[in-house]
Amino acid sequence: MRRPLIAGNWKMNLNRADAVALSSDLVNAEKSSEVDVLVCPSHIYLDAVSATLGDSGISLGAQDVYFEAGGAFTGEISTGMLGDVGCQFVILGHSERRHVLGETDSLINKKVKAVLEAGLTPVLCVGELLEDREAGNTEAVVKSQFEGSLADLSPEQVQKTVIAYEPVWAIGTGKTASPAQAQEVHADLRKLLNDRYNSETSEQVRILYGGSVKPDNASDLMSQPDIDGALVGGASLKADGFTAIINAANQNVA
Ligand code: PGA
Repeated sequence: MRRPLIAGNWKMNLNRADAVALSSDLVNAEKSSEVDVLVCPSHIYLDAVSATLGDSGISLGAQDVYFEAGGAFTGEISTGMLGDVGCQFVILGHSERRHVLGETDSLINKKVKAVLEAGLTPVLCVGELLEDREAGNTEAVVKSQFEGSLADLSPEQVQKTVIAYEPVWAIGTGKTASPAQAQEVHADLRKLLNDRYNSETSEQVRILYGGSVKPDNASDLMSQPDIDGALVGGASLKADGFTAIINAANQNVA
């Protein structure tokens, strides 16, 4: 049985006071204990959010990291630094990093390896552009990102990874993939995990859906058999909405 994970990707939003207030509201919110909760603030507020989360059980994640352990890499942050401020997860290969910042599968693969070697959990994002979907290439694009980003990993390493399917056309647009559209890709990913690794890996790895997840669509999405949680952008910036999504995930556990 895979435990649901609801992750908030705060992106380049909120100032220090807002980030601390949101974390504190989440700590105090009435939420399911059957669901893992993760928040991913901007790097610069990780420390402050970490202190606010304390031992609440809410996990802390970063939105990116560099793959080298240290040295002359101006502006970058290492896995060691993330561990030092209490991070357990790192989002990698988000579509904004792929398409706005130009990250390739081979760079993302180096980051996935560095994160695993540091004992942190990667949340690897994959997803097609609207033009890919319209051309009937969704499965091929997702497969190629999956294979490129996870190249040279053992089944045991992949078992420690979380995958997030995020169709780019659904991110921040208010257009959500229908539960059936999302389930189809999640089932493809589950099959890839089985074919490339083994059944244990395909059964264990959590596959989150992301792209305009809101309190009113979360329950339908998460009732799909291969959707194990959500990566939430806009709706994670308000404690009430994010808590409603956490509790929608719980309904599917219960
Ligand atoms: P959204 O973002 O929920 O605002 O669509 C999701 C994401 O980019 O992870």
